[in-house]
Amino acid sequence: MACVMKIEITDSYEALSKAAAKKAANYINNNPGTLVCFAAGDTPLGTFKELLLMQKEGNVDLSTVWYVGLDEWVGLGIDDKGSCIKVMHDSLYNYIPKERVRMFNGLADDIQKECSEIYEWIIKHGGIGLSLLGIGRNGHIGFNEPGTPDVEGCFTVELDEVTKSVSKKYFGKERAVTTGITIGWRTLLDSQEVILLACGINKAQIVKKAIEEDCTPDVPASMLQKHSTLTVILDKGAASLLDQ
Ligand code: F6R
Repeated sequence: MACVMKIEITDSYEALSKAAAKKAANYINNNPGTLVCFAAGDTPLGTFKELLLMQKEGNVDLSTVWYVGLDEWVGLGIDDKGSCIKVMHDSLYNYIPKERVRMFNGLADDIQKECSEIYEWIIKHGGIGLSLLGIGRNGHIGFNEPGTPDVEGCFTVELDEVTKSVSKKYFGKERAVTTGITIGWRTLLDSQEVILLACGINKAQIVKKAIEEDCTPDVPASMLQKHSTLTVILDKGAASLLDQ
């Protein structure tokens, strides 16, 4: 299917967050009962703040949809600063009925079972409705690191060196993370709608590769070009190297 990529360039992080929240709220309002997958990381934090504000003002009811975690650091749990589950609970899921949310447990004894259960949760809810994703400096989405193969479902991935070195910003210290669990890009591509967010000049080069160059699993975010209705929301910094 041909891609109809929509690129929205905003003036600031605040504007990016508002635009993303508006789009996500619109999806949620029009698609109750569907499954939403939000990335953790720094970029969507402003979007979550806006969504909670919109909910307070009666413009969206976040409890009408279901949620699935995108990824997790293996070995980290909800008490660990920087784990995806902690970030997501602190910034959004503490304000949503517990039974609506299923995130990866990075501390599970059986990580393969955890992968299967998350995939079952996705299937049970009819696949992912909306994916709101960030992009790593190496082009990863979720923990689909460069070169992640085209595999349906969820799996463990050996973390890329770039991801390991960037990870310090979440943990506030060095942590020996080596493995991630993630929903695969193939399954993300099956989402009804995909929104990709990027902010800051340090993402400009990878954003250019992801949306203006050929699709390749070496830049996992570029595989999103294959999605039929991809929306990319950028701030000026992240958009600064685009041709148009
Ligand atoms: C986090 C995730 C990652 C981040 C990406 C960008 O759940 O899936 O792929 O979206 O690393 O992170 P930030 O937003 O911190 O630049």
